[in-house]
Amino acid sequence: MNSSPLTFPDGFLWGAATAAYQIEGAANEGGRGDSIWDVFCRVPGAVAYGHNGDVACDHYHRTAEDVRLMQDLNLAAYRFSISWARCMPDGMTPNPEGIAFYSRLVDQLLAAGITPWVTLYHWDLPQALEDKGGWAVRETAEHFAAFAAVMHEALGDRVRIWTTLNEPWVSAFLGYAAGIHAPGRRDPAAALAAVHHLLLGHGLAVSALRRLDPEATLGITLNLTVADPADPGREGDLDAARRVDGQSNRLFLDPLFRGEYPADVLADVAHLGMADVVRSGDLDIISEPLDVLGVNYYHGDAFTTDPERHPEPAGVAEASPLVAAAGVRQVPRGLPVTGMGWEIQPEGLRRLLNRLQREYTGPAGVPIYITENGAAFDDVPDAQGFVDDQARLAFFDAHLRAVHEALADGVDVRGYFAWSLLDNFEWAFGYHQRFGLVRVDYETQRRIPKASGRWYARVAASNALPTAKE
Ligand code: FCB
Repeated sequence: MNSSPLTFPDGFLWGAATAAYQIEGAANEGGRGDSIWDVFCRVPGAVAYGHNGDVACDHYHRTAEDVRLMQDLNLAAYRFSISWARCMPDGMTPNPEGIAFYSRLVDQLLAAGITPWVTLYHWDLPQALEDKGGWAVRETAEHFAAFAAVMHEALGDRVRIWTTLNEPWVSAFLGYAAGIHAPGRRDPAAALAAVHHLLLGHGLAVSALRRLDPEATLGITLNLTVADPADPGREGDLDAARRVDGQSNRLFLDPLFRGEYPADVLADVAHLGMADVVRSGDLDIISEPLDVLGVNYYHGDAFTTDPERHPEPAGVAEASPLVAAAGVRQVPRGLPVTGMGWEIQPEGLRRLLNRLQREYTGPAGVPIYITENGAAFDDVPDAQGFVDDQARLAFFDAHLRAVHEALADGVDVRGYFAWSLLDNFEWAFGYHQRFGLVRVDYETQRRIPKASGRWYARVAASNALPTAKE
């Protein structure tokens, strides 16, 4: 850790993030319907089989305690997602009891002086809509916009910041192509249709919310990466990096900020029929102006097409039919890794932020918020349940220094949300991977802030990174 204190700009927003299915539990209470994750976790052989979010962190019953925890951590904002199937069990019909849960949560946050930041969709499509075709069909985009309007009707008087989707890349590619996330489909054409319908749903929701509430702050959160060629002197590796950048970053950024899909990616996937689902006018809807861009950053990677260097597809390469089929392989660079096996690469965040500002958000005048960043490590609690997680603390410190450098470079970054407030249900990994600032003992549901949580509370309160000695 460096030793000089670094102050952030006045008003820099410090928060932490969670998602509904990962923390709420109460899967069968209050009229909630099944989401695709409830169903996926019941499929023998599915990656998360044997784990599920039925109880998770029991946040549904512990919101008061959790909001107090946020106060103890000095959070100015809390980013959480809404379970669509809790609020509209069939995806279409409002369930007042489910909606009331979020209304109470918002009231509790505001009473605690914490800004609620709502994500409308964090991967948990109502199963009833998956049964009708899920994100592979256009109607789902229309239902999503209707859901957004219902939630705005209930919360819009108090919630001023709305994110439509969290990480549509994950929903589309891990859910519909790789089959390692719900709904577990392995159909590349469906995944590309899902990309378009997710973006269309985003655009339709933005239009609806804008009509209802011109003053609201509206955005989307993307998981973005820095894709490097393993060997910059090798043409195949440059093309590998282009393909990963294309499908992870530009396939989403270009339609949102420029109103067009990237031509090279469209050419790569021409055989998969994506063009057939795009109707005239769709890209105008998708490129409705945004107020903020949410960026989730965990790692960047290096890529090759040289099978000698890495015979099996892995990571990002494995997840996408576009890149795996082209022989793209991820190459470990020997950097330290987190519990997820993700390379720790804070300088990638600085590069990413500069590139976004230069090519997308700067010209559009759109500020950036880091809506997720964090790390899983093998936490070892002491007898009192305290976790002295110096590796996680150092991860946050290094990435916040990268954000600070990007600010000094002139990038308009307005805030940072640690992933995550609590240890929680980490999707395909069940409860094995812990990302929390706060440890959750799943037996007792006891919450105990980790060393990283105590440290983050000081950072948030002082709006600065403390020196190594503090
Ligand atoms: C992101 C997800 C979040 C969490 C982190 C580790 O991709 O948005 O829910 O699982 O990864």
